Amino acid sequence: MHVAVLGATGAVGRTMLEVLAERAFPLDHLTLLASPRSAGTRLSCGGREVTVSAPHARCFEGVDLALFSAGADRSREWAPRAVHAGAVVVDNSSAWRMDPDVPLVVPEVNPEALRNLPKGIVANPNCSTIQVVVALQPLHRAGGLERVVLTTFQSVSGAGESGLEALRRELARSPGAESPFTRAIAGNALPQIGEFDDEGWTAEERKMMAEPRKILGLPRLRIAPTCVRVPVEVGHAVEIMLELERDLPRAEAARALAEAPGVVFVDDPDSFPTPAEIAGRDEVFVGRLRADPGVPRAFHLWVVADNLRKGAATNAVQIAERIANG
Ligand SMILES: NC(=O)c1ccc[n+]([C@@H]2O[C@H](COP(=O)([O-])OP(=O)(O)OC[C@H]3O[C@@H](n4cnc5c(N)ncnc54)[C@H](OP(=O)(O)O)[C@@H]3O)[C@@H](O)[C@H]2O)c1
Repeated sequence: MHVAVLGATGAVGRTMLEVLAERAFPLDHLTLLASPRSAGTRLSCGGREVTVSAPHARCFEGVDLALFSAGADRSREWAPRAVHAGAVVVDNSSAWRMDPDVPLVVPEVNPEALRNLPKGIVANPNCSTIQVVVALQPLHRAGGLERVVLTTFQSVSGAGESGLEALRRELARSPGAESPFTRAIAGNALPQIGEFDDEGWTAEERKMMAEPRKILGLPRLRIAPTCVRVPVEVGHAVEIMLELERDLPRAEAARALAEAPGVVFVDDPDSFPTPAEIAGRDEVFVGRLRADPGVPRAFHLWVVADNLRKGAATNAVQIAERIANG
């Protein structure tokens, strides 16, 4: 296959190149694209060196599959052109996620959505959404989801290379370019990811309300998220409280999670997963399963995943594998 990666020099794009190589994706030809600033940079993917170029009118000619991770504006501009040139686009940005003609896919949860690609575009969900739906789906199957309240603890790499640089610079107390965060992030916790709307919710929280409903096929699911940026380099953690429609003994909830695809369920409380320990892994780690002491049919969970891998690159490459295999 001829694969193009738009945003190849970014935090997600570089991880995509690693994941494509690790999983021995069938690559005959690789085109790497980034901003004009990076044109001429050489990147490697599984021993193959490729020179990065800026996108141009004919850059998607002959491309079968285009993996996009260069932000929503670039996706809106370039995805229709890539599709017109004959490629299927797997897009990591928020540009197409809520378009009814674009499936929003987590392969462990709703792979059937890939059967129909009216626009030739598949959207990869938000990084926190992915780990949340992978953990929620088995419990929904077992007991029917009624309501979800969650709090995220999201690493700085969720804001890309500039987020990582801002944390490292603040820790080193060295002045530098602008930070993507509205306050200091070192030694801090910021309950703001994206702009606030008129009702006081952030853009990230709105994504976390809308995207799980679409992926799980539950348009009326009640979800109340609070999204928090924390000074961790890689790996998002989420505390989830969920209420079910039907009674479910804790042991059955534990079994549903232990058997779920893509989940590593940790039932020993002392072995709770943390971002630092699971960074570099592709699975979603779930621990601290507790029945709520006061609310019937409710559980609490602690869910951790590598936002650059399962939260972005690995999920996109898993989608690409399914497309490549027809
Ligand atoms: N980070 C995460 O955990 C995560 C998770 C899920 C989804 N996403 C989404 O993935 C996308 C990329 O995120 P990231 O974290 O990798 O960001 P990043 O580290 O800032 O990388 C952005 C990439 O886009 C490229 N780019 C910027 N302007 C461009 C232009 N005008 N034309 C072509 N390429 C351009 C950059 O190239 P230069 O290096 O040349 O500037 C870079 O390769 C975003 O849409 C983000 O929402 C991120």
